[in-house]
Amino acid sequence: MQKVGVVGGGLMGSGIAEVSARAGLDVIVVESSAAAAEAAKGRMTKSLERAESKGKIDSAADVLAKVRFETDLAVMADRELVIEAIIEDEEIKTQLFRDLDKIVESPDAILASNTSSIPIMKLGVVTSRPEKVIGIHFFNPVPVLKLVELVPSIVTDPDVTEQARAFVEGQLGKQAIDCQDRAGFVVNSLLIPFVLSAIRMFESGFASAEDIDRGMVLGAAHPQGPLALADLIGLDTTKAVAESLYAEFKEPLYSAPPLLNRMVDAGLLGRKTGRGFYTYN
Ligand code: NAI
Repeated sequence: MQKVGVVGGGLMGSGIAEVSARAGLDVIVVESSAAAAEAAKGRMTKSLERAESKGKIDSAADVLAKVRFETDLAVMADRELVIEAIIEDEEIKTQLFRDLDKIVESPDAILASNTSSIPIMKLGVVTSRPEKVIGIHFFNPVPVLKLVELVPSIVTDPDVTEQARAFVEGQLGKQAIDCQDRAGFVVNSLLIPFVLSAIRMFESGFASAEDIDRGMVLGAAHPQGPLALADLIGLDTTKAVAESLYAEFKEPLYSAPPLLNRMVDAGLLGRKTGRGFYTYN
């Protein structure tokens, strides 16, 4: 894989583009507007400068030179692999896959999604090549966390899964686990009910946010507590993943608590907006 496209340059897309460029690949990021493309570039620049100052890369500028930031999806035409990392909205994502199917020229190209919870089959089925569609699910922050979940749908070609594995393990230096195409895959199926339980505990007045988080950090050796983690994931994304899990399994443990819904309504989305369960500068 040499020519990689990333659609959506937010929290995840900018990270996926960064690790791809750091692996020496030719990367194009497509965003929805010039301002969003500029923001994606800024996010990646900051992250690369941090990596440079820690001695993890020689030159942020050299890595950045491998990435183009664009707004027209047509630039994806020559890509061998396109990874979609736009907002977690099934309708918007399926439209994007319809568009990519028309634009990406090579019949061997892989169309991947970084979705946290939307069934891959739903994205594959709107294209003329569902056998080339796969979930490649990274974890946040992408440059730091090693795990990638590989999620073939029931009709994904096994060769595509192996090519995706070679890309994430061989080229990006990540470690892959294999998951079936069920909402939430392995990690979010376990993690999201835990985070939602913490929100319900806080909402009921049972304990403060600080004490819930401190409890899990000091008592269960988690690197951060569940409410701080929700702020990091983004409360909108947390809610969207919970809704996909609930839609798939109809289990109360996956239903978004009212406080989460109200916080998202209020625009309190966590770190990315400066306020969630905690306030950030
Ligand atoms: P985000 O909100 O930070 O970024 C989404 C980006 O997509 C925005 O910059 C937006 O301008 C752009 N966008 C929206 N529609 C677009 C379109 N049609 N064309 C091009 N760009 C478009 O969201 P985030 O957190 O990066 O999530 C992206 C995907 O990654 C979602 O599917 C999410 O479920 C998944 N994910 C999120 C994780 C997290 O911890 N936040 C972890 C793993 C996966």
